Amino acid sequence: MELQSITCSSSNVVALLWCASLLLLGWFPTDAVGITTKEQESDLEALLAIMSQINHDPFGVTRASQNNLIGSIPSELDNLLKLEELQIAQNSLTGQLPPSLANASSLQEISLKWNRLEGRLPVTFGLLKRLVALELNGNTFSGSIPPSFCNMSSLEYLVLGTNQLSGILPVCLGSNLPSLRGILVGANNLSGTLPESLSNVSNLETLEVSNNYFHGKVSVNFRNARNLSWINMKENNLGSGSAGDLDFVTTLTNCSGLQVVSIAFNQFHGLLPNSITNLSIAMTYLYFGNNQITGTIPLGITSLVNLLGLGFEYNRVSGTIPDSIGKLKTLQWVSLGGNVVVLA
Ligand SMILES: *[C@@H]1O[C@H](CO)[C@@H](O)[C@H](O)[C@H]1NC(C)=O
Ligand SMILES: *[C@@H]1O[C@H](CO)[C@@H](O)[C@H](O)[C@H]1NC(C)=O
Ligand SMILES: *[C@@H]1O[C@H](CO)[C@@H](O)[C@H](O)[C@H]1NC(C)=O
Ligand SMILES: *[C@@H]1O[C@H](CO)[C@@H](O)[C@H](O)[C@H]1NC(C)=O
Ligand SMILES: *[C@@H]1O[C@H](CO)[C@@H](O)[C@H](O)[C@H]1NC(C)=O
Ligand SMILES: *[C@@H]1O[C@H](CO)[C@@H](O)[C@H](O)[C@H]1NC(C)=O
Ligand SMILES: *[C@@H]1O[C@H](CO)[C@@H](O)[C@H](O)[C@H]1NC(C)=O
Repeated sequence: MELQSITCSSSNVVALLWCASLLLLGWFPTDAVGITTKEQESDLEALLAIMSQINHDPFGVTRASQNNLIGSIPSELDNLLKLEELQIAQNSLTGQLPPSLANASSLQEISLKWNRLEGRLPVTFGLLKRLVALELNGNTFSGSIPPSFCNMSSLEYLVLGTNQLSGILPVCLGSNLPSLRGILVGANNLSGTLPESLSNVSNLETLEVSNNYFHGKVSVNFRNARNLSWINMKENNLGSGSAGDLDFVTTLTNCSGLQVVSIAFNQFHGLLPNSITNLSIAMTYLYFGNNQITGTIPLGITSLVNLLGLGFEYNRVSGTIPDSIGKLKTLQWVSLGGNVVVLA
């Protein structure tokens, strides 16, 4: 078998379908939740089909409320002391988040995703000690993520994707909030390195940091994150140009339910570790394309028997693809072009 890539001009119907789906998703959804803009409604079935294969939907894609509500959240909020859930997702709310909302101290869930809210994230939210889920994705919030958020000691889901947030991912998130299960901050303007403290987030299931300006070596050790299933670092400037850039991949071998790893479109150098053959048998997507990775694709890749998608295109991978890749019965999408190939 020779190195090749299935491109979107392929006449293969399955490949075309997948290319279309991947385009629709931007290969992976930037925040894994509630992707239902009007334009995409007709594609919802296809999307759901893919999501169902990924088998990972902590928030329920189909549960979003759409009521065409307009207006802004009033800053004088009385009688909210007993409010446990504030769900006004997918409406047309405008204006800023009132800092006084932090007085609603029983809140366990705030979902204001896919509205038109703007301004800074209120520092006062750090007072919400019972808050389990904060979903503010799909708005135009700007400014940085307040370190006071590390005081939300019950927080399990921090969902801030698709906004205009800048600054760093606070180091204290990792050291103060080990019960975090989802950190979803994709499609923002965040920068800095991925804090090493994330090694302490032992309950982590989803790490979505794609489409930002993160850079440098990934020094996170995922050994303790036994429940990690989805990790997307796509489209950043990650990598240090050193041989050990992919060391963190080896720490993922203890995550027995791991399904998706995307590190494409970064600056990762170094040798592709053989340990990818020891990743979870549950792996469905492995996407390492558009980096500077060297080495060969190990023969043992065939032990990942549930793979649906495999991408190593535009790297410096050499050698031949093992023939045994044909044993991967579920494989629907392979992209290996644009490498420095020496055919044996
Ligand atoms: C909470 O309510 C009190 C009384 O209405 C007010 O003085 C205070 O500023 C509010 N707290 C926040 C964080 O807005
Ligand atoms: C977190 O809360 C503690 C005590 O409630 C306070 O002293 C500290 O300043 C808060 N941290 C941040 C970053 O707001
Ligand atoms: C975010 O980055 C984009 C592209 O670089 C830029 O146009 C935009 O002004 C930035 N927004 C903020 C809030 O920094
Ligand atoms: C993890 O948490 C422990 C205890 O809180 C702390 O000593 C250690 O520095 C943390 N590790 C990282 C990488 O932040
Ligand atoms: C992982 O998930 C299991 C089952 O839901 C749970 O018991 C466990 O506490 C979670 N966290 C870790 C670190 O294993
Ligand atoms: C996996 O976990 C075992 C037991 O906790 C530990 O000994 C081993 O070093 C871990 N492997 C990796 C790659 O972190
Ligand atoms: C895969 O895991 C096994 C068992 O832990 C270990 O002996 C082997 O060295 C690992 N292989 C690679 C390539 O990391």
